[in-house]
Amino acid sequence: MNNGIRQFHRWVSIVFTLTVIANFVVMGFGHQIMWVTYAPLPPLFLLLFTGLYMFALPYFTKSRAAQ
Ligand code: HEM
Repeated sequence: MNNGIRQFHRWVSIVFTLTVIANFVVMGFGHQIMWVTYAPLPPLFLLLFTGLYMFALPYFTKSRAAQ
């Protein structure tokens, strides 16, 4: 389960990076395409939640071990 979350975060980070690169490419051509501009936001949200989950994980396992 946790490994699945980590893999998911990993692959979504690639998608996020590609959407950011797409933004620079579109800007480089002097255009602004609305859906490209906002394309990084959905993967960024997924990264935020899975990232915060991974951040909190060690604290959960520690408190469980202390009991
Ligand atoms: C948006 C908020 C984000 C949060 C809160 C977050 C948090 C984290 C955390 C806690 C880890 C695990 C570190 C560890 O204990 O080993 C991690 C791993 C990682 N993060 Fe994020 N992250 C975020 C966004 C991003 C973004 C924007 C990228 C890249 C575009 C990214 C790429 C990665 C990669 C490649 C890993 C390693 C995954 C692995 O171990 O296989 N993250 N992140």
